[in-house]
Amino acid sequence: MRDGQTSGASVLVIGAGPAGLFAAGALADLGVNVALLNRDLRPGGLAEYGIYHSKHKVKSVLRRQFGKILGRDEIVYYGNVTVGESADLSLTQLREMGFDAIVVAVGAQGTKWLGLPGEDLTGVYHAKELIYAYNSLPPYSELIFEIGKRVALIGVGNVMADVVRWLVRDLEVDEVAAVARRGPAEVKFTRAEFAHVIANLDLDAFDGEIERVRARMEAVDQDVATAKSFILSAQGRAEPATSETRVGFRFLSSPKRIVGDAAGNVVALEVENTALVLNEAGVTKASRLGTTHELDVDTVIFCIGDRVSDDLGLPIAWNAYVKHPEPRYAVDGISFEAYDPERAEAVDGVFVVGWAREASTGQVALARKDALACARSVSAYLEARESTPASGEAMLRLQTALEGLGKPLLTKDAVVRLHEIEAAEAERLGVEAFRFDTNAVMLEALGL
Ligand SMILES: Cc1cc2nc3c(=O)[nH]c(=O)nc-3n(C[C@H](O)[C@H](O)[C@H](O)COP(=O)(O)OP(=O)(O)OC[C@H]3O[C@@H](n4cnc5c(N)ncnc54)[C@H](O)[C@@H]3O)c2cc1C
Ligand SMILES: NC(=O)c1ccc[n+]([C@@H]2O[C@H](COP(=O)([O-])OP(=O)(O)OC[C@H]3O[C@@H](n4cnc5c(N)ncnc54)[C@H](OP(=O)(O)O)[C@@H]3O)[C@@H](O)[C@H]2O)c1
Repeated sequence: MRDGQTSGASVLVIGAGPAGLFAAGALADLGVNVALLNRDLRPGGLAEYGIYHSKHKVKSVLRRQFGKILGRDEIVYYGNVTVGESADLSLTQLREMGFDAIVVAVGAQGTKWLGLPGEDLTGVYHAKELIYAYNSLPPYSELIFEIGKRVALIGVGNVMADVVRWLVRDLEVDEVAAVARRGPAEVKFTRAEFAHVIANLDLDAFDGEIERVRARMEAVDQDVATAKSFILSAQGRAEPATSETRVGFRFLSSPKRIVGDAAGNVVALEVENTALVLNEAGVTKASRLGTTHELDVDTVIFCIGDRVSDDLGLPIAWNAYVKHPEPRYAVDGISFEAYDPERAEAVDGVFVVGWAREASTGQVALARKDALACARSVSAYLEARESTPASGEAMLRLQTALEGLGKPLLTKDAVVRLHEIEAAEAERLGVEAFRFDTNAVMLEALGL
């Protein structure tokens, strides 16, 4: 590394979830000064507000790691700042401040709509809004969700497993059906996550469902017994049932329409039957058969992943911000460089990482790996530049712009104090963890 190019540079990181925090830490290791902006008051992103609400141990381990990163002298943190075209500061404004590079680590905050009739009915939700709500993220924590008694979840990944866990253990609904466009061999949840709900699986109905789709699985040479035993293997670690909720699956069924009544409430989910076909790479795809059937439900929850926000001001493709197809600073073959396909050029000096780079992909460990690689990519970009680092001027311009917002911002000291106040409150209440669930009470507790 040529000293004076990377070391001493000023980099802005937008988003303080795992990807932004680990990237900030890796950049600080290289002697870079980092300003970290975050929409939420507290850092952590989905590690705080996505990971299941009762996983206190995992969350506190991650919080400690993040605290260490934030404690670095090279890093300044501003929570309660949203970047976007219609937000506190736009990406264009931030680019004009003269940072040596900008890392976009805002996660996938948009909604992946399928454009189905009935998506706007009362009782139709996307998993993220419910997950944010049960994890006490403002303003979702204050929204009212009309969850009925018979719930269909579209998608069979770990997010589905988390939401089912909440429906079974917290809400104790009557029935839950996980709807998959492919079959039992293509479920994406892990045994560990399904173990929280398998005690509620209706085993007779599950056997019946496997037989219903057996011929379609065997048509592509799938081993039905293996697929079935993977799902049932969660029984070995099953968490005991605490409700009467019946959990089931509906395989080889692609959502087609959500049926509503005159009052605009969900009364059914219409799905189209699918067959499995193998593509050229040997991967199974769902192929619509033209026939449909209805599931008698009053709530539909999409657990199909998210897309990035349109408001940030970067071009989007395949649910994520567009990456340079011919990156100059690829790391391990991965492009982190933002790209404008209309102008066919890089968005110079702007990098994307984590779920902003690949929406709804992987766990915290993957976000960390991505962040470390992104920091290497940024470093290579800084080293290759002709100009010298931007000194502290960009930081000062940012500070002035933030002061001009006229709203309370959280510094890293305030984050530490917030955690201390909440820990003291948990102790006073005799509970494992306590969290303020509105910005107003958090700010009041901090005297801001
Ligand atoms: C329901 C659910 C449960 C999960 N459970 C686990 C688990 O148990 N274990 C595990 O390892 N992984 C889990 N994951 C995956 C893990 O949370 C993600 O891999 C990781 O959080 C992605 O990190 P990220 O930083 O890219 O995005 P995020 O975590 O989404 O962080 C984005 C950050 O950007 C900020 N931000 C957003 N928009 C803006 C903006 N416009 N301006 C400024 N700041 C902005 C947000 O405030 C947030 O802090 C789970 C994911 C989900 C959805
Ligand atoms: N405890 C944990 O560690 C934890 C918890 C939650 C999330 N996570 C991680 O976070 C990431 C995101 O999880 P996720 O569950 O949102 O994603 P996921 O694992 O990719 O699962 C998404 C599901 O939605 C289905 N789907 C997608 N588009 C669809 C469409 N148009 N129509 C019908 N079905 C559709 C997918 O089916 P196909 O397979 O057919 O595409 C799949 O079943 C994953 O990496 C996950 O492991 C981890």
